[in-house]
Amino acid sequence: LAHLKVKLQQALRQFPDFPSPGILFEDIMPLFSSHALHTDLIRVLELKVAEAFGTKTGEKSEVDVVVGLESRGFLFGPTLALRLGAGFVPLRKKGKLPGECETEGFEKEYGEDFFQLQKDAIAKGQRVVVVDDIIATGGSAAAAGRLVRKLGGELLGYVFMMELDFLKGRDKLDAPVHTLFAGQEEGLKKES
Ligand code: PRP
Ligand code: MG
Repeated sequence: LAHLKVKLQQALRQFPDFPSPGILFEDIMPLFSSHALHTDLIRVLELKVAEAFGTKTGEKSEVDVVVGLESRGFLFGPTLALRLGAGFVPLRKKGKLPGECETEGFEKEYGEDFFQLQKDAIAKGQRVVVVDDIIATGGSAAAAGRLVRKLGGELLGYVFMMELDFLKGRDKLDAPVHTLFAGQEEGLKKES
């Protein structure tokens, strides 16, 4: 498992000053353009969830629902949900989902943004894992957690591919946090 993680981490690319000066962008797309890396990534994430939340891979898991954050959480959330025997629920930016929704705001670099979940997407007591590619300030993940709980879901915890640990985003989260690797370049502000 450790050697797979190293292989995955080595495939990540860093782009300085993207999308704006002073920001080091962590590019995760090479993990998806290669079939071999994509396969390894899903395997590692599946094992991570199994270890973290007591699931048995390939069997009906302890996880009822995987919630993925728009947009990069959509790249692997559904695949992971299939592998875990769980449902997948997309958490979207405000105004994208039809029907009754719950809304939560969070701070972005420039002003506030809003996330939504459809009210009937999670049933009371369902066990939920929230996934995303990167935790930076933790603002979006914290909003996601609040939404899951508003709907009555039991938030088991969070799984991120990468953590910019110098931003201390996990301090904003009050459920267990699991990550595959740490981002680089302490001192640079945010990945994206
Ligand atoms: C990025 C990243 C995380 C979030 C982390 O998404 O994919 O979702 O920022 O930031 P935070 O921990 O400070 O809240 P972004 O909003 O750039 O959009 P995208 O996923 O649609 O590319
Ligand atoms: Mg995102």
